[in-house]
Amino acid sequence: MTLLSHILSLSLSLAAAGEEPDGKKVFLAKKCNVCHSIKSEGIVALQKDSAEMKISDLSGLSTKRKLDWLVRYLEKKEKLEDKLHPPKFRGEEAELNALSKWLMSLKPAS
Ligand code: HEC
Repeated sequence: MTLLSHILSLSLSLAAAGEEPDGKKVFLAKKCNVCHSIKSEGIVALQKDSAEMKISDLSGLSTKRKLDWLVRYLEKKEKLEDKLHPPKFRGEEAELNALSKWLMSLKPAS
């Protein structure tokens, strides 16, 4: 087997397994951490004034939000205090679902 065909068959078998994207990786890849910190995950917002701008730390999100609301909010189909989320989520549906599930699993900041 050549190296190329080996790589091809490996990536095919990964796709076939239907692996769910990793929610934390999606969070970082989509740059949610520019604006949002997640203290319980040790993630600090890159934009230094995000706390003064009242951008939420997402630790313990499930104590105030529900999964289906969150998915719609990130797609800008739902408002929070009369406002749509600034950026609309762009990516695969599987990524949005994995990201939302991961956000709902976050522990509160201690
Ligand atoms: C340009 C800055 C910015 C980026 C980038 C951003 N957000 Fe937000 N986000 C906000 C603002 C502003 C709000 C509304 C104020 C608040 O509640 O934090 C908000 C609100 C939220 C809320 C609601 C928080 C609550 O209290 O219920 C969630 C959840 C959220 N964002 C998730 C994300 C995710 C996931 C990403 C990446 C896909 C992301 N945000 C990217 C600025 C941003």
